[in-house]
Amino acid sequence: MARRKKVYEGKAKILYEGPEPGTFVQYFKDDATAGNGAKKDVIDGKGVLNNRLSEFFMTGLNNIGVPTHFIKRLNMREQLIRQVEIIPLEVICRNFAAGSMAKRLGLEEGTALPRPIVEFCYKDDKLGDPLVPEEYVIAFGWATQQDLDDIVALALRVNDFLSGVMHGVGIKLVDFKIEVGRIWDGDYARLVVADEISPDSCRLWDIETGAKLDKDVFRRDLGSLADAYTEVARRLGVLPSNVTHRPKPTLIN
Ligand code: TMP
Repeated sequence: MARRKKVYEGKAKILYEGPEPGTFVQYFKDDATAGNGAKKDVIDGKGVLNNRLSEFFMTGLNNIGVPTHFIKRLNMREQLIRQVEIIPLEVICRNFAAGSMAKRLGLEEGTALPRPIVEFCYKDDKLGDPLVPEEYVIAFGWATQQDLDDIVALALRVNDFLSGVMHGVGIKLVDFKIEVGRIWDGDYARLVVADEISPDSCRLWDIETGAKLDKDVFRRDLGSLADAYTEVARRLGVLPSNVTHRPKPTLIN
């Protein structure tokens, strides 16, 4: 049997050549890393959950007219996506201070920001994805001013969608990261949301208890990452059938 050609392997995903030109198959691994690979583990079922969750968010975005690379889920761990030219930026959008922003500015985690703030990190593992100003992005030719305006607009639309969906299931969207890709149509490029949207790349806090339901559980040794992601999937109604979740018994009067 012919073996599929691996195009790229990252920390949490593998890209294979797709069945048609202009497509890739994106495979979700169970590997979890933090601190740019300094902390590593294999979390049983994480890839399955992130495949489902990313499908859920990307489909929702496609349905409201926010373009993404997502075409369809193929199986438990794989999805068919459009091949894009990745812009080498981690596009971060924040609603509340946390993580690196809280540290940099000495803010208490959870402080509400005056408005959503979009920032850019240059995608380079060797450098630890440094935060960069727009001036760098344009001067070094990673994206044009027009691209940046479009990327900010895209990130804010994703933020509105994700914040609303998560709020509906009792979860606060603190911040998230997306990647953006170009799809060429002749001489014109369209920008689309690429990579994945999952609890690996968001901060999600339970609105009532403040419990963390994202990768900080792994980064900060706060408990079971699989349980946290399963809870997000359960609330959104996208729990894969092979992941068992036993709800707490309820008292019937
Ligand atoms: P930070 O507080 O560490 O800068 O992260 C902000 C958000 O972006 C958080 O939800 C994690 C996410 N993120 C990634 O998923 N990958 C990255 O490489 C970076 C820098 C952030």
